[in-house]
Amino acid sequence: MSVQSEMRRLTAPDIHARKGGEPIVMLTSYHAHTAALADKYCDVILVGDSLGMVMHGMETTVPVTLDMMIVQGRAVMRGSKRALVVVDMPFGSYEASREQAFMSAVRVLKETGCGAIKLEGGKRMAETIRFLVERGVPVMAHVGLTPQAINVLGSFRAQGRDEADWGRIEEDTLAVSEAGAFSVVIEAVAEPLARKLTGAVPIPTIGIGASVACDGQVLVMEDMLGLSPRVPKFVKRFGDLGPGIEKAIADYAAEVRARSFPGPEHVYPMKGKKP
Ligand code: KIV
Repeated sequence: MSVQSEMRRLTAPDIHARKGGEPIVMLTSYHAHTAALADKYCDVILVGDSLGMVMHGMETTVPVTLDMMIVQGRAVMRGSKRALVVVDMPFGSYEASREQAFMSAVRVLKETGCGAIKLEGGKRMAETIRFLVERGVPVMAHVGLTPQAINVLGSFRAQGRDEADWGRIEEDTLAVSEAGAFSVVIEAVAEPLARKLTGAVPIPTIGIGASVACDGQVLVMEDMLGLSPRVPKFVKRFGDLGPGIEKAIADYAAEVRARSFPGPEHVYPMKGKKP
């Protein structure tokens, strides 16, 4: 009998069950090759709509389309085997009605094969979240700073630093939890509020710029690798790949200009002759 066991992909219920347990490791990825690396260490890979800013140089996530998310979601599914892959619903693909949200989510699930979707918004999205979950769509919610609302907010500033704002963010977090979200991203909120929210809901909270008081953490991969030109203050750079990539490109350009690349070892030899 074979002792090989099939690698099982984590599911939304697996992540939900991690509430209060081992911290959940989540990272963004938009490509098959970085997804394969993240898959070895992460529980959740998020195909975030941050791809608009990170991959495409957009100023905000607002212009990102559902088709862009689906193409990158497919790539990440191809590259990964174990992590739960969550694909972001981009601005304009879910806010108009519960039905619009369902049809967009169905496209994402069917066309990428991912295990869940993420959408931004608290209380205002609760009814939609319930509608989706009742119809078989696992939903990760996203409260606190919601970057898709940049045109209303005016800037990407931290939320809940003033205790007067806590009530609204608490209501949002409770609403998405009661509506059936399996977990919630909490972005850019002060530590005491993150602690309070984590204690208040039975679903895992995943923080980004929201302190260690959450059940897990998420970062944008390019930000933590030192590949993004501008990063929020809360990002820790775990790598500094920018200079290494630039050096490799500069070395290549210099060798091409000096006609020293490709050398004989990088050219196909004639049949039967050694290089
Ligand atoms: O789009 C994204 O990458 C995100 C994370 C910042 C949580 O939503």
